[in-house]
Amino acid sequence: MHHQQTRPGFKSKFGAIAALAGSAVGLGNIWKFPYIAGTNGGGAFLLVYIFFTIAIGFPVMLAEFSLGRHSQQNALGTFRVLAPGTSWLLFGLLSILSATLILSFYGTVSGWTLEYIWLSLTNSFKGQNAEDINTIFNNFISHPYKAVLWQSGFMILTGAIIMGGVQKGIERYSKIMMPLLFLIIIALSINSLTLSGAAAGLKFLFRPDFTCLTADGVLAALGQAFFSLSVGMGILLTYASYIPRNDSLPHISLKVILTDTLVAILAGMAILPAVFSFQINPQAGPGLVFLTLPTVFQNLPAGEIWAVLFFILLTFAALTSAISLLEVPVAYLVEEKKMKRPAATLLATSVITFIGSFNTLSFGPLRNVHIGGMNVFEACDYLCSNILLPLGGILICIFSGWYLDKSILFNEISNNGILKIRFFKLYIFILKYIAPVCILLILLHAVGVI
Ligand code: PHE
Repeated sequence: MHHQQTRPGFKSKFGAIAALAGSAVGLGNIWKFPYIAGTNGGGAFLLVYIFFTIAIGFPVMLAEFSLGRHSQQNALGTFRVLAPGTSWLLFGLLSILSATLILSFYGTVSGWTLEYIWLSLTNSFKGQNAEDINTIFNNFISHPYKAVLWQSGFMILTGAIIMGGVQKGIERYSKIMMPLLFLIIIALSINSLTLSGAAAGLKFLFRPDFTCLTADGVLAALGQAFFSLSVGMGILLTYASYIPRNDSLPHISLKVILTDTLVAILAGMAILPAVFSFQINPQAGPGLVFLTLPTVFQNLPAGEIWAVLFFILLTFAALTSAISLLEVPVAYLVEEKKMKRPAATLLATSVITFIGSFNTLSFGPLRNVHIGGMNVFEACDYLCSNILLPLGGILICIFSGWYLDKSILFNEISNNGILKIRFFKLYIFILKYIAPVCILLILLHAVGVI
């Protein structure tokens, strides 16, 4: 069956890659990857990470792409078309809810990055010691409304891009932000290589120490590969429905994966040497980006400039991921609920900002509200990253590996037989057995069963 392109999609292949790589490259690459690579055996972790990205991440990404481009639909519509009248529709709905929920806490940290551009521009870290910088951070995140204002500002930016549509919003801005992001991260890493701690930082990131690679580390590599590629959330489904029919899906996947991995490695090269020059213990999470790095930057020559560049980089990374998340509910509202794009964007952005403000305030006025021993933000992050994301990945594997007619996959991957596909049997085998079992292991590990 040959489907016509039924609605406007990305104009160019470069635009499609920029948008998809923009979704993949996010806060996960920049603060999470360098640290977990370093503490889990450096080069050894990197090898395992690259192996999983190619062996598991790539097949699942390709499946999600095929479903989206074949159906020419949003995350729910895909299952309405491909599995009418079944409970797979619930999975579509779940992806939309997950994307909505992820953006609600992604917006919190993204709002912080905007405040940090401002603080760096106004040179607020000058002459402050580590303790002062700690105080600045804590006062900011616990402020009754400042962080919510920045989060709302970030959400307005995200909404404004999405309102512009696929070509004039997502594609246009990804094409600007992604190359700039690349330039900034290359400049930052070259600068870091000139520092006295460069050797120690690079050693921490690259030296293959297999004795430090535990079973935990291997699972962390798989989990990180998944999170970093944005699979299992309906994002790749939705964006894939905008990929032109004659573009090669395997080719686009590989480029996206390559960019994502390269940015993670460059982030490690930019951050770790700087951290080691000042003999600071690298730590994961907000601590590294918002506490350690400002300390590092203000000790560097022309540090305020590097700080501004770094937080702009972080904002670009966050913004291109945020638009991919917002597009999931917006495409759903436009296509399933027949809303106009501006109204749908306004509704989704307002609801997400509203839910998100609870996440943001959980470091301040709502800090005493706990769910299972975690504050609202941590609970939301845990639910999405450790449960919904792997669950989405497994369901994609089951749907495309077991339920779906294989010829649909074959036709999408090969562009109706035009492209030569060599490993299709192996591909289906991974999709049916290997990938879902591996992802199930991450899920069980994340909830503490193994
Ligand atoms: N891939 C993004 C990152 O590495 C995070 C993300 C996950 C974005 C899931 C959207 C959905 O930060």
